[in-house]
Amino acid sequence: MANENQLQSIIAHCKEYGFIFQSSEIYDGLGAVYDYGQYGAELKKNIRDYWWKSMTQMHDNIVGIDAAIFMHPTVWKASGHVDNFSDPMIDNRDSKKRYRVDHLIEAHAETLEKEAADALLQKMDSLLAADDFAGLKTLIEENKIKCSVSDTANWTDVRQFNLMFATEMGAVASDNPEENKVYLRPETAQGIFVNFLNVQKTGRMKIPFGIAQTGKAFRNEIVARGFIFRMREFEQMEMQFFVRPGTQKEWYEYWKETRMKWHLSLGIPQEHYRFHDHVKLAHYADAACDIEYDFPMGFKEVEGIHSRTDFDLKNHQQFSGKKLTYFDTELNQHYIPYVVETSIGLDRTVMMLLSEAYKEEDLSTEEKKDSRVVLKFPPLVAPIKLAILPLLKKDGLPEIARELQNECRPYFKCFYEEKDTIGKRYRRQDAIGTPFCVTIDHQTKEDQTVTIRYRDEMTQERIHISQVRELVMKAIQAF
Ligand code: GAP
Repeated sequence: MANENQLQSIIAHCKEYGFIFQSSEIYDGLGAVYDYGQYGAELKKNIRDYWWKSMTQMHDNIVGIDAAIFMHPTVWKASGHVDNFSDPMIDNRDSKKRYRVDHLIEAHAETLEKEAADALLQKMDSLLAADDFAGLKTLIEENKIKCSVSDTANWTDVRQFNLMFATEMGAVASDNPEENKVYLRPETAQGIFVNFLNVQKTGRMKIPFGIAQTGKAFRNEIVARGFIFRMREFEQMEMQFFVRPGTQKEWYEYWKETRMKWHLSLGIPQEHYRFHDHVKLAHYADAACDIEYDFPMGFKEVEGIHSRTDFDLKNHQQFSGKKLTYFDTELNQHYIPYVVETSIGLDRTVMMLLSEAYKEEDLSTEEKKDSRVVLKFPPLVAPIKLAILPLLKKDGLPEIARELQNECRPYFKCFYEEKDTIGKRYRRQDAIGTPFCVTIDHQTKEDQTVTIRYRDEMTQERIHISQVRELVMKAIQAF
């Protein structure tokens, strides 16, 4: 169920507690670009590390690389991004607002009766499939679709708009800007494809094997909305799994199951996820699906699993003129491997975990009204694992607390705080999702016990100070 209020609360909470800020906020921000603050950066890093470990450490046959953002411009010709990575757009001449044609028509369809809406969408789909831009414009005009800002139907022609950002490389200005043109990568996957043989040979990798990487990708999204759901600069975590031609269906099923298990291991219930199989496949794919999560805006894609055939390697071989075949010693045969890809957005995963973790709890009793906002992150990804809180700033309590902090900090991220009442300090830790708080008091001096408080249940117990490190370590153990 879509819940716009919850989304707004999460956005406000992220800003107030140092998770996510709008980029260049003091200049009124930059559209669909965000910065991660002190807790957001930790959360994001923990998710990235967990994914990286699940791929490269928990599988013998998957290795990780870190390819550059800039690549030879021909890479994007070969991958199809120069010609195909675009959306048909239309501008309203009066408001100067630009629309994605399918979004404009879909929004209009929502205002119609079901039968009329279905007919309109069916017509749109066939025009889109045929790249019939004149037909799309006629469809918009025939249906008297208006701009929501100017309320006029004064439209330009429909044009393709490429989503890649381009810049120039090198110091010498050229008369022909195309000469020095380089792109900011729109996906990390191509850095893996062009390094396929480098890694296979130097790592003596045998098929089936995978190459993983995480990194920034850039897309000039036209309709960028939904907080960090659709950004112009974002991070992907992708893995290309190279397999024998003919075995791709099995591996596709394997990766669907494996990736869903990874999602469930984040403590998110099954009913908050669903698979969405692609009916209309991209030209390079022979099977594709999304893992969708039930965001505050409803079910939306968080990860894609694509069986990409030999499309990318074959095209890179053709465009580069370099052989990209693999010699299979078991079959005594050279071939271009097929690829099954898993591709997840890191920022979308952050948003998924925030949506799942964010809770407003009413703690009122008969005596007094009370409430808290808590982020119930799995301990593994929580930005801070343990808050160490001396009850008083005196009587040797800070010294004991600092000693515990020094013991724990090489293993996980701790937070030390001695200001304010203990209740206020607990609430602040709830708001940033710290799973454990430990309080040092006078009894600690007598019997070396501390009070440990559990974030989710808000229960407390006394344990020996020497047990604290072990207890937290156990809770953040991933595998
Ligand atoms: N290499 C395949 C590929 O890039 P994709 O479905 O375009 O496939 C994969 O992107 C994932 O990247 C998506 O499932 C999503 O999580 C994330 N992603 C894509 N565009 C994004 C954007 N504009 N902002 C944030 N995340 C995005």
